[in-house]
Amino acid sequence: MSPGNRMLMVIVLCLLGGSHANLIPHSDIRPAPSHQLLRDFELSLLRMFGLQRRPQPSQEVPVPDYMRDLYRLQSAEDDDELRQINLEYPDRPTSRANTVRSFHHEEHLENIPGTSGSTSIRFFFNLTSIPENEVISSAELRLYREQIDHGPTWEEGFHRINIYEVMKPPTENGQLITRLLDTRLIHHNVTRWESFDVSPAIMRWTQEKSINHGLAVEVVHLNQTKHFQGKHVRVSRSLLPHENSDWSQIRPLLITFSHDGRGHALTRRSKRSPKPQRARKKNKNCRRHALYVDFSDVGWNDWIVAPPGYQAFYCHGDCPFPLADHLNSTNHAIVQTLVNSVNSSIPKACCVPTELSAISMLYLDEYDKVVLKNYQEMVVEGCGCR
Ligand SMILES: *[C@@H]1O[C@H](CO)[C@@H](O)[C@H](O)[C@H]1NC(C)=O
Ligand SMILES: *[C@@H]1O[C@H](CO)[C@@H](O)[C@H](O)[C@H]1NC(C)=O
Ligand SMILES: *[C@@H]1O[C@H](CO)[C@@H](O)[C@H](O)[C@H]1NC(C)=O
Ligand SMILES: *[C@@H]1O[C@H](CO)[C@@H](O)[C@H](O)[C@H]1NC(C)=O
Ligand SMILES: *[C@@H]1O[C@H](CO)[C@@H](O)[C@H](O)[C@H]1NC(C)=O
Repeated sequence: MSPGNRMLMVIVLCLLGGSHANLIPHSDIRPAPSHQLLRDFELSLLRMFGLQRRPQPSQEVPVPDYMRDLYRLQSAEDDDELRQINLEYPDRPTSRANTVRSFHHEEHLENIPGTSGSTSIRFFFNLTSIPENEVISSAELRLYREQIDHGPTWEEGFHRINIYEVMKPPTENGQLITRLLDTRLIHHNVTRWESFDVSPAIMRWTQEKSINHGLAVEVVHLNQTKHFQGKHVRVSRSLLPHENSDWSQIRPLLITFSHDGRGHALTRRSKRSPKPQRARKKNKNCRRHALYVDFSDVGWNDWIVAPPGYQAFYCHGDCPFPLADHLNSTNHAIVQTLVNSVNSSIPKACCVPTELSAISMLYLDEYDKVVLKNYQEMVVEGCGCR
């Protein structure tokens, strides 16, 4: 890390920490902070992100398109951009969630019908990476199905997808004890993702600490034509008709919506249009300055998928006596500045952020899971003398 970047990081940390504000000297010329100090800062930033340690993602972690779309939906600047995202935001969970997590199933644990007495495929999703303090508000299982062009007749094209929670470990002959979670009658005439509500099961596993025996997916062909079974619902790599290189993008996806008790929900906030920068009077009073934080500068671009960086801004400037109204001061700051004018051993009020806003971040956690989270107080919206 270059000294410049260290400086940047320290400033960012102070901005984010609020209470650390006193640690920033008001001069730009100062010695580079020590290694230990930097490590402490990085740790506190990770803690703010709710991470135990810096994620070290393995080389090829596929980021599901759905997560990218949810991120773009979150951070779209205007309606034009929104219209380009072909996605309906799932409306159930938005009211309470500030975190979205995605999971792929453990392929080595999957049970395929035919090899056992069951007609459904059992999936196991390892959800241990969900922190204890996070409350799940809903969860969906997404399955990709493809249109069959030269397939059976229209009448033969109907099938039903049943999603179950597996209640007990499979019996010796492979039978599953299950509970129905969601079901849908579909026709093979379109290619699309189907979303199934699996919230009750995920809530039982996380909140009630029930044992996760997995989910089961059953595709029932209403007018039996063996030939086409299992070919168009992309539930298992081993059932694919041919080796498909896009498997990571079409494989089943479990999505959880949760809240960690910190900050706002992932509802789209109305974006402020950036205020036109007035030609500044040459005064040095407290105001907001541009500060672009580039995650690749601090070497975090390997685990932060998006954004590549963001405009954080910082507050800097004088808080002169007497304090003017536009300096967003408090009565206390006015009194303190007044006292300073007669006794300089009492410091002046400080130029600090008075209004902050959130950004959404898409990143890989310590377990290579893709997470979308809203982080509050990341962007300075207003400065003031406090
Ligand atoms: C789930 O993941 C955790 C953390 O990677 C691991 O320790 C645990 O053994 C996994 N559980 C199963 C059943 O695979
Ligand atoms: C099954 O096929 C028969 C005739 O082939 C048709 O009448 C019936 O509606 C079909 N069932 C479904 C659920 O499509
Ligand atoms: C596909 O079939 C379903 C069920 O009959 C029907 O409701 C839907 O309109 C069809 N869609 C297309 C694109 O043909
Ligand atoms: C200035 O403030 C300091 C700290 O409260 C105090 O010790 C000192 O006596 C004050 N000086 C005057 C001249 O009031
Ligand atoms: C005072 O706060 C408002 C709203 O937060 C902001 O628009 C304005 O720029 C702030 N004033 C200064 C000097 O930063």
